Amino acid sequence: MIIAIDGPAGAGKGTLARRLAEAMGYAYLDTGSIYRAVGARLLDAGAAANDRQAALNAARNLDPADLERSDLRREAVSEAASEVAVQPDVRQALLEFQRRFTASPPGGKTGAVLDGRDVGTVVCPHADAKLFLTATPEARAERRHKELQESGVESIYARVLEDIKARDERDSRRTAAPLRPAEDAVTLDTTALNADEVFAQALRIIAEKTGRT
Ligand code: DC
Repeated sequence: MIIAIDGPAGAGKGTLARRLAEAMGYAYLDTGSIYRAVGARLLDAGAAANDRQAALNAARNLDPADLERSDLRREAVSEAASEVAVQPDVRQALLEFQRRFTASPPGGKTGAVLDGRDVGTVVCPHADAKLFLTATPEARAERRHKELQESGVESIYARVLEDIKARDERDSRRTAAPLRPAEDAVTLDTTALNADEVFAQALRIIAEKTGRT
């Protein structure tokens, strides 16, 4: 069983996907963290985010331990991740990592929940259920700002909003796997919903799609 959760930054994908995986006993993969891990490696090496060869090397040699790095949410890493994500050969290398994960979810689990931008369109086109979460840029910036502050990272709301808009633009306009809902995805606008409401609605949508409750 594969559940795909896509949408722009700050729409609540991570919170929802983690909770679904926990409730259903499935493995969880935050696919954004693999782009972030590549971005972080480039910053470590002092390489430019548009250095294609360095990015490709980092993607091919992705260390799963890097997905747990504590600095992945830093704005510099977000920026670098968004830049490496436009490179088709980097996406290809990371696609292979994601396909291995879904083919045999770690821990012998019988299913996986993945969240990202192109899970329903490219990584898992045959996912059993696909959700596309959206929210206004302001609501998303507000959440990301709070998240950063709570994790002890200094954050200015206006900057976060600006960054979110810039990343939306880059993620939607790139030619390689741009951000868009799969044709068979159910779109859920989370602007006015809290995490419990999003979770309840998602469970209902998944039950309808898969016949499981
Ligand atoms: O969801 P996030 O903010 O952690 O994602 C970081 C960057 O990685 C984001 O700018 C878009 C990119 N990304 C992607 O291109 N495809 C994915 N499946 C997930 C993330």
